[in-house]
Amino acid sequence: MCGIVGYVGFREASEVILDGLKRLEYRGYDSAGIAVKVNGHLEVVKKAGKLQVLADSLKEHNLSGQFGVGHTRWATHGAPTDPNAHPHTTEKGDIVVIHNGIIENYLPLKEGLIARGHTFTSETDSEVLAHLIEEKYRGDLVEAVRLALAEAYGAYALVVAHQDHEEIVVARTVSPLVIGLGEGENFVASDVPALLPYTRRVIFLHDGDMAVVTREGVKVTDLAGNPVEREVVTVEWSLEAAEKGGHPHYMLKEIYEQPRVLENTLGGRLHEEEAGVELGLKLDPTHYDKVHIVACGTAYYAAWVGKYLLEALARVPVEIDVASEYRYRDPVVDDKTLAICISQSGETIDTLEAIREAKRKGAGTLGVINAKGSSITREVDDTLYIHAGPEIGVASTKAYIAMLAAMAMLAVWMGRARGSLDEKTAREFLGEMRKLPRLVEEALELRPQVAHIAEKYHQAQDYLFLGRHIQAPTAYEGALKLKEISYIHAEAYPAGEMKHGPIALIDERLPVVVLATQSPFYEKTVSNIQEVRARGGRVIAVATEGDTEVKKFAQDVIYVPQTHHLLAPVVSVVPLQLLAYETAVFLGRDVDQPRNLAKSVTVE
Ligand code: M6R
Repeated sequence: MCGIVGYVGFREASEVILDGLKRLEYRGYDSAGIAVKVNGHLEVVKKAGKLQVLADSLKEHNLSGQFGVGHTRWATHGAPTDPNAHPHTTEKGDIVVIHNGIIENYLPLKEGLIARGHTFTSETDSEVLAHLIEEKYRGDLVEAVRLALAEAYGAYALVVAHQDHEEIVVARTVSPLVIGLGEGENFVASDVPALLPYTRRVIFLHDGDMAVVTREGVKVTDLAGNPVEREVVTVEWSLEAAEKGGHPHYMLKEIYEQPRVLENTLGGRLHEEEAGVELGLKLDPTHYDKVHIVACGTAYYAAWVGKYLLEALARVPVEIDVASEYRYRDPVVDDKTLAICISQSGETIDTLEAIREAKRKGAGTLGVINAKGSSITREVDDTLYIHAGPEIGVASTKAYIAMLAAMAMLAVWMGRARGSLDEKTAREFLGEMRKLPRLVEEALELRPQVAHIAEKYHQAQDYLFLGRHIQAPTAYEGALKLKEISYIHAEAYPAGEMKHGPIALIDERLPVVVLATQSPFYEKTVSNIQEVRARGGRVIAVATEGDTEVKKFAQDVIYVPQTHHLLAPVVSVVPLQLLAYETAVFLGRDVDQPRNLAKSVTVE
């Protein structure tokens, strides 16, 4: 939530900052702002609306300077207005503050500051930091920030600049912050894509770190000022991977990347000859007698698929939880519990707090994560990277498919170690997994047919998605994708649950997407399709190539390639992603920046 970019060096700061914010706009797009030091003063321009509004407005300002900071906002406290946009400053205007996170005690701090004569111009929690730092400032900006943070608590990635010092003072707790290292220039950002045009050498700040970033170098300390050693990491993501590559939207580009992503996720890890997988994990899979999986949104549906895979192949009991619920339900956890969290960003605060809860209670912890160096990876005992590359589209697609592949590998890893998965079955399953990139490639060819269905139903008010067993989460993921980017109301249900209530919704206006791929439960799903048809519902079935049965009952059938029924979610989700995408395009929606959403949710 919120994107931050800071620059000090020899280039035009406004260009570096706008370019970086563009790459971070997936983190929030309610307003944007920039401060650049021009002729010894920090000039601030900030605007409600997307970054382009700010970019247009900058044409009327001369912000030429080599030192500055910028922000793109996802609103928490205060509506998306010009005054609530960052950077925040005070009446004197010599200090600017950019903040991502929530200052939990901002109200008492604000009252105190007002009583001491400060005038506030925004409704944000962040503005208190500008006033607090101003109050503490006696010529040493670093000391002023440190003193202010001793009084404020909550979550923050904080970036502060003063017109008299060519240094960017930053601090983080909970919200991510990364420093990019250049020659004669240095950078600050919320996430790596903003840095990729300039450097791949980065330092990921940890909770409780502060840093002073100047042209010449970077000094990292703790909040008390004690020096701290942080590793310089070379990131492997290419600039091209973080750009659209000729596609109209990041989401479409990422959907098309999925075959390559699967190759990366599975690459070097499947070993049919040994009937196993090599995941490089330190954890001992035989030590645990139960598994808890926590995640949010799309990653939660990957957790749900993971439950079926682990229970089927490793015969271990698995509980799954939406992360924001897990930590408050006082889960029963002991040192025989393996707690797995799944996250693309590795920064989702609900997921981070849930895994912390499991760790506190003695569980072994494993992250299934995309973003290297992210907060969760630093807190778990072990990480299985999904290698999906940078995902920019707010609606997650390629990360989901990579999560599914990772969960399948984990199930084989545990199943083989626990002796519940025999060699022959493991080899066959791994053989099926190896085919997945090709099958997903084939599924992408469904786009013209799916676009036709999307056009046919794009004016529907509601959609229903049904799926059974391991395809129930696919139904939920299909509904989530449609909701997120087309704003059409979509519900998902396990297919067998429909008759217990949702069946009342069915009439001739309701498109019902049914996952009816081959599985031991296929006949039951076909019965559910007939129940929908008998009530006039319009069925869009996702079936396995070669199926001749389903088309008797469905208006539209999307045929996906045959695979093992436990891997069917990987190929079946592709037409559902395309359905959401094409529907949103028909409706003229902003596919990559759907309203109210942000890619990385770092507030509770
Ligand atoms: O970064 P994470 O995987 O932890 O994010 C979890 C959810 O916020 C995310 O999947 C969200 O639901 C997406 N917008 C789904 O498209």
